[in-house]
Amino acid sequence: MKILHISDLHFPKKLPLFSLRGKAIVGYLSYRLRRKSKHPLVLISAMVEAISKLEYDALIISGDLTNVSHPGEFQNAKEILSPLLTEKTFIIPGNHDRYHKRAVGPNPLFEKTFSEWLGTSLDSKLYIRSKKIGGKLFIGWDSNYAIPRITASGYVSPEIIDKTLNHVTEPYVLVCHHPLWNPKTEIESKTHQMTNRAEVVEKLKTNPPELYLHGHTHTNWVKLPGPNTSFPIVNSASSTRLSDRNHECGFHLIEMEKSTHYRRFIYSEDKFIETNPIFYEESEGVI
Ligand SMILES: [Fe+2]
Ligand SMILES: [Fe+2]
Repeated sequence: MKILHISDLHFPKKLPLFSLRGKAIVGYLSYRLRRKSKHPLVLISAMVEAISKLEYDALIISGDLTNVSHPGEFQNAKEILSPLLTEKTFIIPGNHDRYHKRAVGPNPLFEKTFSEWLGTSLDSKLYIRSKKIGGKLFIGWDSNYAIPRITASGYVSPEIIDKTLNHVTEPYVLVCHHPLWNPKTEIESKTHQMTNRAEVVEKLKTNPPELYLHGHTHTNWVKLPGPNTSFPIVNSASSTRLSDRNHECGFHLIEMEKSTHYRRFIYSEDKFIETNPIFYEESEGVI
């Protein structure tokens, strides 16, 4: 099973200011000023081209396809990704895809735009989605909630965890936007992290996934299995961002056979090239 994992695409889209409301105005201006230049279009085209040429069984996108959950951004994201949207694709939302109430319900833009690639809902009230790709079970959670303040924290309710664990009777890969673990050099603030991740880690011990895929913190890593999380944790954010001193960006191709092999691809001189993954032991970071 070859799993291609990309995350935090934050596709750039020029938006008319009058079409924005509330915190989306502040969020959009901050994105235009600080982050837009970090996600150049040449890199985005190079990423789509690189992925099209790779051999994989499943393509997993772990959220943040947009910046402020604007309808124009969702459409743009779908158009850019269209060559990659197939029966092999599984997508979950990130906090930027749930930027305000309109993006949550009752007719959420994320679900409307990407319905074909979100898998099957296991519960009418909770976001637990499953999809079998190439015989492998993928479970997707939504760890985001739309709140009026500009924070990026996350939460997964105990109910979601319990229902998932009761449902799953075979090996599975868990996909969720927020990290469960950070390297000591990449500690997240309280307004950025999943607030109850210690609880999530504890509950997952009864039926752990084979692999946990996430994004949110825009720098890549692979946390190897350890005493608290017996499964590897892979961060592929941001796959469309230029790397710099504080951001090691790119994506991963994870080959799960008898043992798991990790391949990492980064943007360099107008194309994506393969390089060494960034590995950590669990003890080199915190839950
Ligand atoms: Fe992000
Ligand atoms: Fe995020």
